[in-house]
Amino acid sequence: MTKILMVCLGNICRSPLAEGILRSKLPKDKFYIDSAGTASYHVGSKPDIRSIKVAKKYGIDLSTIKSRAFTVSDFDLFDHIFVMDQSNLENVLNLARHKNDTLKVSLILNEIAPNENLEVPDPYYGNDQGFEIIYELLNEACNKLFIRLNP
Ligand code: 4NP
Repeated sequence: MTKILMVCLGNICRSPLAEGILRSKLPKDKFYIDSAGTASYHVGSKPDIRSIKVAKKYGIDLSTIKSRAFTVSDFDLFDHIFVMDQSNLENVLNLARHKNDTLKVSLILNEIAPNENLEVPDPYYGNDQGFEIIYELLNEACNKLFIRLNP
């Protein structure tokens, strides 16, 4: 079983959407996919209604996801940890205990544009169009992950 964790700040907008998109593409018997936030403001909450809506438009159900905080033990539980932006990257790497932890962590958009360190923009204070944009970016990144991780 390959275990993949998607991480953003609040775990209500970007990472639950990434979780749902990737889960819809990969075989359930071979991949475990989860998401978490580096901040705990929204722990226990459902994803933002705008993420739920854009996912539903593409046939993906996020309604059972609940926000949780990233913890150090996630380095032990997961094989790959994908973060959305530089700030998430710093927050996660600050918790790493050794090099093996850091090697699991990368910016998800490097799947599309290797080494360019592009970010999935934080859509929280924006409008619905921002959620369409993050859907498109995450869907493209998850298509690449499907090819790379499911040969
Ligand atoms: P996310 O978006 O990190 O993609 O879940 C955010 C959600 C909440 C906040 C910021 C970003 N917030 O400041 O509460």
